[in-house]
Amino acid sequence: MSFDLSVIPNKNIIVGITGGIAAYKSAILVRRLKDAGFNVRVVMTEGAQAFITPLTFQALSGNPVHTQLLDPEAEAGMGHIELARWADLVLIAPASCDTLAKFAAGLADDLLSTLYLATSAPVWVAPAMNQQMWAAKATQRNLVTLVDDGVHVIMPESGSQACGDVGLGRMPEPEELARQVTDYFHKAQRAIAEKFGLLASKHVVITAGPTREAIDPVRYISNHSTGKMGFALAAACYAAGAKVTLIAGPVSLDTPNGVRRINVSSAVQMLDTSMQLLDEGCDVFIATAAVADYRVAEVAEHKIKKSGDELDIALIKNPDIVATIAQQDKRPFMVGFAAETRNVEEYAAGKLVAKKLDMIACNDVSRADIGFASDENAMTVFFAEGYHLPKRDLEKASKQEIAQQLVEAIHDALHHDPAQDEAF
Ligand code: C5P
Repeated sequence: MSFDLSVIPNKNIIVGITGGIAAYKSAILVRRLKDAGFNVRVVMTEGAQAFITPLTFQALSGNPVHTQLLDPEAEAGMGHIELARWADLVLIAPASCDTLAKFAAGLADDLLSTLYLATSAPVWVAPAMNQQMWAAKATQRNLVTLVDDGVHVIMPESGSQACGDVGLGRMPEPEELARQVTDYFHKAQRAIAEKFGLLASKHVVITAGPTREAIDPVRYISNHSTGKMGFALAAACYAAGAKVTLIAGPVSLDTPNGVRRINVSSAVQMLDTSMQLLDEGCDVFIATAAVADYRVAEVAEHKIKKSGDELDIALIKNPDIVATIAQQDKRPFMVGFAAETRNVEEYAAGKLVAKKLDMIACNDVSRADIGFASDENAMTVFFAEGYHLPKRDLEKASKQEIAQQLVEAIHDALHHDPAQDEAF
């Protein structure tokens, strides 16, 4: 089982909008929730419609807006009970004093209050009101009741209010509300992945990107690796429940959600960091980095001045990171990558043995449509002989999809018992 944390698959949010000037912020909220991948349906009280029209929310949510409890036509589409069952989360934003009071008292005289009683989904309220109304004893009493009843209250912020007062009662910005909702589902998914994911309870260390080998204080030797494959793998391993540490060479990519990133520059730094992480305890080591094979023997202390027609720079061999880690006593499951321009499978199989890897994924970088800077890749995966697992061809797909298939391959090898094969 695996869980993609970059999107929220098919989660349904009901946004309840009540009468208050903050209702204008709810338009952006619905937009942001849609952007994050949620299915959104909007329920509006009569008061809310005095501030903003249902048509706005119909356009933004892409669904009809629900306003009536006892309208036969509306109920024929999706009645209040179906609506209550449809929701994975009900977010009332803004939540007026009146709505809080209704919820606390258990009244059910309009669609929103009825929905509140009828749903088993988590209910969140984002109260927004004049600071005096927020501080009123009745409001505070109702909030205590709601918290007791399991409602999650998103505290209002302090500041200047539309009515001219200054104080507590402003609804948080829509982006912040959308972020909290997204976080909630990410955490829920992560909790499941940590228990049932393909790499649950594993620590995965991934090297990614190029290395940079200094010539002098302003120049270096490097290569065109973008780090995309390694970063996609980091996201896929995290989604599969692993704790992930990404050792990244100089690349301009955002760190995937939940992944610990350590930036390095040279091959020697990448190796040192890898060795430290091995001491921390590492179960799977994935080497996607395009490590420079050589570094400058003596890095100049000052910028090298232009002089003769030729310049000789002596290079010395860099350590092989993946091979070094594979030689350690506490060696993790080792995954290497091979980018070749010819005899792809033959060379890859040779590296699998020479570097003492458990698995190698190879691709043909002479193909213009895949590899390096491309968003797509196609690979062949080989396992070390002891696994008795046949090679796998991963057809051309996005680096995310390839990463997912590589996670499955790692899982299969980790859980494969060759003794079982021999029994047959
Ligand atoms: O030998 P080659 O560079 O083709 O091997 C590729 C594999 O070895 C990749 O997994 C790469 O990250 C790893 N490697 C390494 N340290 C090096 C060179 C390659 O970890 N110095």
